[in-house]
Amino acid sequence: MLSKSGMSFNGRDSRHTRTHLELCCGRYLSSLIYHLSADRTARALAIDIQEWSVIRDRIPLALRPRITYVQRDVESLTYEELDRLCRQVFGAHVGLAQIDSVHWSPPCETMSVSLSARGRRKHRHPDGRAKSTTAIKHDRCFDIVAGILECLVKANGAVLISVENPRSPGFLSQGSLRRLAA
Ligand SMILES: C[S@@+](CC[C@H](N)C(=O)[O-])C[C@H]1O[C@@H](n2cnc3c(N)ncnc32)[C@H](O)[C@@H]1O
Repeated sequence: MLSKSGMSFNGRDSRHTRTHLELCCGRYLSSLIYHLSADRTARALAIDIQEWSVIRDRIPLALRPRITYVQRDVESLTYEELDRLCRQVFGAHVGLAQIDSVHWSPPCETMSVSLSARGRRKHRHPDGRAKSTTAIKHDRCFDIVAGILECLVKANGAVLISVENPRSPGFLSQGSLRRLAA
């Protein structure tokens, strides 16, 4: 809903450039491809631990100029660093709290229901606690990112946050996810 001044009902200028962030974006950048295809002026910041050469190939050529990719391990990411990155990419006035949407695809290979019984035993204790080095790291990444998103929601209650993962008890029982959803 727009007023004559071009302001939306939540007080934002409807003509502002939409900005999107995708964490652990993978090679399919599932939400960014959607947002950038739907809005020809939108811009995006994508973060993953993999090399750009691995990520790049599946992004349609026409969309690439509007995506800034940062290769980064989210295990040591902080709210302040992400805020700085957003300002570098989108301009000084667009920090993390001014972003329109965040999509996050936490690594799922140590908690997915598609794991074999052997895989489950390797990565997790029967109660879901992390056992393997990989699962321990993934859970740490999970808590770090969920913590950042919790701070973000406090700073901007209107931000759209989505979290993608195959349905699994391991995912749904993550304490930091339950706090974020509360
Ligand atoms: C479930 S996949 C992403 C799927 C994604 N939605 C897509 O469209 O391709 C999880 C992603 O997390 C990334 N990842 C794993 N560990 C990471 C870490 N420590 N820091 C950043 N990204 C990580 C992987 O490289 C992988 O691309």
